[in-house]
Amino acid sequence: MAVPADRFAALTHDLGILYGGDYNPEQWTPDVWREDARLMREAGVNLVTVGVFSWARYEPAPGVRDFAWLDEVLDVLHAQGVAVDLATPTASPPAWLGHRHPDTLPVDADGVRLVAGSRNHFSPASSVYRDSALAVTRDLVARYAGHAAVRMWHVGNEFGQVCFGDESAARFRVWLQERYGSIGALNEAWGTTVWSQHYGAFEEILPPRRTVYHVNPTQALDFRRYSSDLLLELYREQRDLIRAVDPVRPVTTNFMGFFPLVDYWSWAPELDVVADDQYPDPTDPWAPADSGLVQDLMRSLGDGRPWMLMEQATAAVSWRAHNPPKSPERARRESLQAVARGADGVCFFQWRASRAGAERFHSAMLPHAGADTRVHAGVRRLGADLHRLRSVVGGRVEARVVMLFDWASWWAAEEQARPTVRLGVLDQLRAWYRPLWQAGVAVDLAAPGADLDGYDVVLVPQSYLVTKTAARRVEDAVDRGASVVVGPFSGVADENAHVRQGRFPALLRDVLGVSGEEWVPLPHAGVELRLAAPLQALLDAACPDGSPGRATTFGELLRSDGAEVLATFVGGHLDGGPALTRRVPPGGGQAWYLGCVPDEQLLGRVLGEVLDGAGVGGVLPAVADLPGVEAVRRGTATFVLNHTDLPVSVPVPGARTDLLTGARCGDLVEVPAGGVVVLDDRVGTAGR
Ligand code: GLA
Repeated sequence: MAVPADRFAALTHDLGILYGGDYNPEQWTPDVWREDARLMREAGVNLVTVGVFSWARYEPAPGVRDFAWLDEVLDVLHAQGVAVDLATPTASPPAWLGHRHPDTLPVDADGVRLVAGSRNHFSPASSVYRDSALAVTRDLVARYAGHAAVRMWHVGNEFGQVCFGDESAARFRVWLQERYGSIGALNEAWGTTVWSQHYGAFEEILPPRRTVYHVNPTQALDFRRYSSDLLLELYREQRDLIRAVDPVRPVTTNFMGFFPLVDYWSWAPELDVVADDQYPDPTDPWAPADSGLVQDLMRSLGDGRPWMLMEQATAAVSWRAHNPPKSPERARRESLQAVARGADGVCFFQWRASRAGAERFHSAMLPHAGADTRVHAGVRRLGADLHRLRSVVGGRVEARVVMLFDWASWWAAEEQARPTVRLGVLDQLRAWYRPLWQAGVAVDLAAPGADLDGYDVVLVPQSYLVTKTAARRVEDAVDRGASVVVGPFSGVADENAHVRQGRFPALLRDVLGVSGEEWVPLPHAGVELRLAAPLQALLDAACPDGSPGRATTFGELLRSDGAEVLATFVGGHLDGGPALTRRVPPGGGQAWYLGCVPDEQLLGRVLGEVLDGAGVGGVLPAVADLPGVEAVRRGTATFVLNHTDLPVSVPVPGARTDLLTGARCGDLVEVPAGGVVVLDDRVGTAGR
């Protein structure tokens, strides 16, 4: 069979939007498999992920293989037209492995060796674990690569394991040797002159295990880099094994949004399709916007290509302290939100609710109460919806705004002993994203240093580590006319997390025309800002009662080096100093600097002004004034999602047909409470 240029696109071209969930047949008997497969077909399910946790079943004793039951499962599914995303079972080794080889079990930072009895109980550094994982994977792949039901491969599950044990320490040293070449270079990079931390040889180095006091921040940063690279090695070796036998079907693994232990920018190019597990908290009022950010990240990780929502909940999860279920309408809306933002697959954890084990209270597509339930009716409805959206498959979201984010900078910015723990990288990212989400403005994410051509607005909410390349990209963007906005505590450090010398934000100083000398956490109540005339006019429009803008959390002692000062601090340590500046170089774009965390309203206004200045608007201007209503454009389709519990009318010029209902819409589109409308330019436009 010819190898398609885009393996995932070839699959969705064939099957349409992928719909289904994790299926754990080892928990059920063959009669239940038959019932499941039938119900799947009736619900419109076309893909299930099988075998994620089946290792103990495949290999009940060392070296023994039992695949016969899986033969039957695959045949049963195939007979009902349900394709399989077959998992390598390596996330959860059998108990015998840890029993016979305790060194396969992970050790935490306190030196405690964790035991079997839950899942993920493996050290990614253990050679025995890795050999055992590859052996079972090799046999699984050899047996099923030719099976007609298998259309996709799923390596492991939610990679994110960390081990501080001896074998991990040994591999860490090798990684460090490769990175630094000599112990002298490592000492330099880690700043070991501080606190007498000098190392005489690599053998002396350990992972950042429990220490008496704060650990060396560069050691901690490098251990995170190493742990992410080590897991990627595991993914790759299983992926390569599959690839050698099956060059055609897509291979992936499931990400976890802004997961703190793995650098997904380095992982994404190794996946045929980016896949993600998303469990927004239904009690969080900002969940829809924050999900939008995660989904935009997933699309961006895949360079704009369609991605896959691999797992989510139909109703309740069981791992938070308090787990209220979401409604079927919400589950539908969240699924369609993912499609709007580029997903060509919508799956759940899991198909049939477990009756035993740690996830017995986790919702599923088929609840304990069976098919005659509200949840399952919702599942069937969603299956039908996704079928109707087949025409969006492959469609792209086009963004003129890009937001910079990367893992190393996040890690370094949040190491121990910093100006304030109240300034969080993700908090900043979310705060900057929310007004854009509300305005229906499409946003991509990019790693600092990536090519920014094609974007008119570049947002840098907090970039702590700034490399020369990253700084040059920002300068180039301003030079070619883009607007750039940089937030506080940026440009602080180099790749080794050493504070750059001179006034901050170091490499970004010139382009921004502003520089600073002191980082200043602010009192809880924040600090008043005095806004210069142009900004005051903006805020007055937003805030007719004249309440001033405020800086919260964090400010900086700055001076303008040529930038226009748009806001200054009033009172306190920073009294009279600039809080917000803008440099407009001749012939270039605009370079804004926010030397504080502004209140929500002021931040929204500032970003709004930047977008207006750059001529960037939302998909449907009207949604900006409809809080909780989201508009996204994907390909030729416009999605309008109403996250509120009241119906809304949204002006959409040119009548169209709603792909979901087939109803003709007037210029004023009615979106029911909690509902979604999808308007495709190619379908039912008036006058065509
Ligand atoms: C993740 C895991 C699943 C399951 C769900 C529960 O997505 O991959 O195995 O534990 O969480 O929400």
